[in-house]
Amino acid sequence: MTHTDFIAGLPKAELHLHIEGSLEPELMFQLAQRNAVSIPYASVEEVRAAYDFSNLQDFLDIYYAGADVLRTRQDFHDLAMAYFTRAAADGVLHAELMFDPQTHTDRGIAFEEVIEGLLSAMAAAEAQFGMTSQLILSFLRHLSEDAAFATLEAAEPWLDRVTAVGLDSSEVGHPPEKFARVFAAARAMGLKITAHAGEEGPPAYVHEALDLLRVDRIDHGNRALEDEALVARLAAEGMTLTVCPLSNLKLCVVNDLADHPLDRMLALGLRATVNSDDPAYFGGYVADNYRAVAEARGLSRGDLVALARNSFTGSFLPAEAIAANLEKLEAYAAEQA
Ligand code: ADE
Ligand code: ZN
Repeated sequence: MTHTDFIAGLPKAELHLHIEGSLEPELMFQLAQRNAVSIPYASVEEVRAAYDFSNLQDFLDIYYAGADVLRTRQDFHDLAMAYFTRAAADGVLHAELMFDPQTHTDRGIAFEEVIEGLLSAMAAAEAQFGMTSQLILSFLRHLSEDAAFATLEAAEPWLDRVTAVGLDSSEVGHPPEKFARVFAAARAMGLKITAHAGEEGPPAYVHEALDLLRVDRIDHGNRALEDEALVARLAAEGMTLTVCPLSNLKLCVVNDLADHPLDRMLALGLRATVNSDDPAYFGGYVADNYRAVAEARGLSRGDLVALARNSFTGSFLPAEAIAANLEKLEAYAAEQA
């Protein structure tokens, strides 16, 4: 069996996926037409050509503009179903979806439309593909602490269906510390905590995510490698890092996948996972990320299984569900050996 087939069949969880970042240009055009929204592109090819980024902000400007075609709960349902269909083909048994309510509520779209559309797709994915999923409500860090508190309040009727809160958008200049009180409130409500840290921001932001946000997971975490003591701490705490190789390449966090630190993270004892981040913008879904980094870094099957194992142990599923998924993974690994 080739690496490609082995990866497609490898049972895995996806832990770092922005649902708005799974909006493919074809669906963007369809929704623009359905909602009579004008978009600044003449064709799908023109959209794809615009996806040439030198840093995170370059991408975010285009990503927030693209999200403008999402207007109704049906749109959010269709968006998420398109993702689940791709993920099922990639061997994903469980997906944890980040969504950015503020990107939508700030355009006058009701929180209810966004979340009900996502929840109905999650139920459909479970029925159709047997795939489980959870929601991570993410705050936009370039906006204020007050705005994050207002978002948490708007989410209150649905908090039994939200698993975690996250922190995304422009990292540099918006340290975790800015949101310490919001995350403390979320934790008091029983929500899990994750935050983007060390994608473009310095190791100090990873320290803050640990100490001030008290995260259960770190999204990206690449720049933690610059701080030896921090690496030792992350390893000792068994902290999961949700690493996104193709995203790192497209946003110039690495200059070449051949320089990607994924296997170095594993060798340092870090609980690294592989994820797609914003697959419609970065040129690949989760299996594409496994394949690209496996090829660029010469990963072994053992490495691939270790990454998939980390994706389940780092998930926010209850212990019994983690154990059941790990059993499927180990059976697959043994069968293919
Ligand atoms: N929003 C969507 N993708 C993101 C990323 N990679 N970093 C920060 N914010 C994001
Ligand atoms: Zn991300």
